[in-house]
Amino acid sequence: MTIPSRTQVAIVGAGPSGLLLGQLLYKAGIDNVILERQTGDYVLGRIRAGILEQVCIDLLDEAGVGARMHAEGLVHGGFEMMWAGQRHRIDLHGLTGGKNVMVYGQTELTRDLMNARQAAGLPIVYEAHNVTVRDFDGKTPQVSYEKDGRTHQLDCDFIAGCDGFHGVCRASVPRKSITEYEKVYPFGWLGLLSDTPPVSDELIYINSPRGFGLCSQRSRTRSRYYLQVPLTDNIEAWTDEAFWQELRLRLDDTGRRQLVTGPSLEKSIAPLRSFVAEPMRFGRMFLAGDAGHIVPPTGAKGLNLAATDVKYLSNAFIEYYKDKSEAGLDTYSARCLRRIWKAERFSWWFTSLMHRFPDDGPIAAKFQEAELDYLLHSESGARTIAENYVGLPLDFGE
Ligand code: APR
Ligand code: PHB
Repeated sequence: MTIPSRTQVAIVGAGPSGLLLGQLLYKAGIDNVILERQTGDYVLGRIRAGILEQVCIDLLDEAGVGARMHAEGLVHGGFEMMWAGQRHRIDLHGLTGGKNVMVYGQTELTRDLMNARQAAGLPIVYEAHNVTVRDFDGKTPQVSYEKDGRTHQLDCDFIAGCDGFHGVCRASVPRKSITEYEKVYPFGWLGLLSDTPPVSDELIYINSPRGFGLCSQRSRTRSRYYLQVPLTDNIEAWTDEAFWQELRLRLDDTGRRQLVTGPSLEKSIAPLRSFVAEPMRFGRMFLAGDAGHIVPPTGAKGLNLAATDVKYLSNAFIEYYKDKSEAGLDTYSARCLRRIWKAERFSWWFTSLMHRFPDDGPIAAKFQEAELDYLLHSESGARTIAENYVGLPLDFGE
């Protein structure tokens, strides 16, 4: 594949944000080149959440990559919340006027996007090292990168920073031009993936005196479980057997009976963070996805937020090239941030409700139990959870 030295949109990062943006732009006839620091296999090896909102499903259809998701994804019309050993179902479908979510792993979605890009023969550079973004405050931004020991330059109209939380784009903005908001939580999530049937048809979010737990899934034969653990825990110290034992202790009797255990395919500890950078536009460079914001995983909003940033950004580029209008580019940051802060608030709140905070003492658990008892026995309370969980409409409040 020949990589051009000029393109309309240079995209840094080939995670879900960069790949989806590239695909939507390609569909609209806008050239783009993706530069990715890692190999494709490395990108596919990262296990992330797998709950898609309707807005995200629609966008994958629009990008022409929805076929396998519809064939293999599992439609979920509800999930369960457990506290004090009791389960309560949130009827997503009933409480939101017919909305659902789709269980489809981010790995699979990324693979579909990669395959579509390859099938279309679109330029993507894996193992692009020392990516540098320059002159995005002027009219002729540039990106340089090293590949196989040579330095290459890419001239472009715009740069899309889809390079995740540790990427180079946000880091290249002068400190005085950006405001960052951050909260780091005093615990992590220990995740385990296994080829075992899920303990239940739907997800179970558990608030237990031993800490949070989550029973999730990737398919009818592949499960994903999480346990809240202290940040000081070492992954090597967590044997598979210790994981299953601890999960049993956080489950109810039915869950313990139905749990099928097996060897882990992957096991890792992830920290939890809320983070937002404002604004998301710096001249001709735009941030999208994890490059601009991080949510704690409770509620699985990360991928969905990335998808809506990409929706707004691709529309803005299409307006710019087709209608010669900069209106979408000018409103991109404010529009995204309005949506992002609502998902940040929900993810923070859901995390606070379901986890045990080490410094909070017994009264905090009582407050949580009272709030859960109220929310789940009040239709408006349950509806508030449901409408946020399935995702607010794209034009919410507009
Ligand atoms: N140069 C090139 N590529 C880079 C650089 C760099 N300097 N820094 C990071 N990258 C790449 C990473 O290797 C990664 O593949 O950018 C990509 C960013 O991908 P993600 O971290 O997955 O972020 P994003 O695409 O915004 O995805 C958002 O998916 O990963 C989840 O938790 C995330 O659910 C959220 C959603
Ligand atoms: C997951 O399956 O990885 C998952 C599901 C729901 C969440 C978080 C993670 O809230």
